Amino acid sequence: MLRLFWAVNLTVGVKASVAAFQDELKEFRVHAKWVEQENLHLTVKFLGDVEVDLVPDVVGAVRLNLKGLPSFGLGLHGCGSFGRPARVLWVGVKGDTVSFAGLVQRVDSAFRYIFSRFKALLVSEGIGMLILGLNGSPHKNGNTAQLLRIALAEAERQGARTEFLQVSEAMAGLKQVYCVHCSTPCKGTCYEGTLVGEMLEVLRQADGMILGSPVYFGTVSGQLKSFWDKTRRLRKDLALLNVVGGSVVSGGSRFGGQESTTRALQEMMLVQGMTVVGDGYMGDDAGHSGACAKAPVDSDPEVAQRVQILARRVYQVAYATREIRALSR
Ligand SMILES: Cc1cc2nc3c(=O)[nH]c(=O)nc-3n(C[C@H](O)[C@H](O)[C@H](O)COP(=O)(O)O)c2cc1C
Repeated sequence: MLRLFWAVNLTVGVKASVAAFQDELKEFRVHAKWVEQENLHLTVKFLGDVEVDLVPDVVGAVRLNLKGLPSFGLGLHGCGSFGRPARVLWVGVKGDTVSFAGLVQRVDSAFRYIFSRFKALLVSEGIGMLILGLNGSPHKNGNTAQLLRIALAEAERQGARTEFLQVSEAMAGLKQVYCVHCSTPCKGTCYEGTLVGEMLEVLRQADGMILGSPVYFGTVSGQLKSFWDKTRRLRKDLALLNVVGGSVVSGGSRFGGQESTTRALQEMMLVQGMTVVGDGYMGDDAGHSGACAKAPVDSDPEVAQRVQILARRVYQVAYATREIRALSR
């Protein structure tokens, strides 16, 4: 096995500038693990452990998908930290970030192809498990999105592939936003050829997912609920049976209905036959319902830790149950 990730290498000059900046920070004598100068890079996709025999196919698929992509310019700009106290220091990217996002998408779709081709092998090895984060907030980078990004980063650290799905954006593209129960069984006509249709296909591949919602009047946002109603066809196909689910929520008030929202998310997943877990993990504690935060979430002292525990739990149970999912797919 090789632990792999796909990355854009930085030029020698850029690496040297970042290293010089690290040296300045080191003078503060913080307890930190610094990335070595020669290893500085922009991660495009984390793969986890990959069978050595698969490496040429992985490289070939990505090369094919990147063929013809014109070159574009990127630079580094600004810095900041995640977590309080800071756990991760980051340096920002500026320039043609739209092209960079396009490159990430192409690499992503190459991996989707590879993973479907080698599914049997991957299932038996537990490689490349897919954990999704579904953001039910209209805010792409709001409180709920922040919680989900922490969760997905942790799932990647465990070895999962992840995807972040911006539910409200996809729902905005539908003519028929609400399910009107137009047919039984559901034919999926209302989302055919739309982003919602694409997202539902991604859901069919998932090993685990984390639903995130802001608290709206003590329960889940209308956007996420309307999207979930569109998963009715997947239910008939048993597509989400035994997929592992967890929930993260953020409310404006300390006692604003976070727990009732979490329960609502969990009920939605249970009706799909999913296996719902809370935020407990070996070495931590048995946990509670999920991560319930008060906005702004980056000043809620415990929330990042609870979200990470939840993500580890989702990954662990998804790993342990991968074979029963394979049976029903
Ligand atoms: C329509 C609506 C209803 C809301 N209801 C509640 C509520 O019942 N309890 C609460 O604590 N916050 C409530 N809020 C505040 C949001 O839950 C809170 O701002 C949340 O953190 C926003 O998350 P976001 O940044 O991901 O969108 C409500 C907000 C809106 C827009």
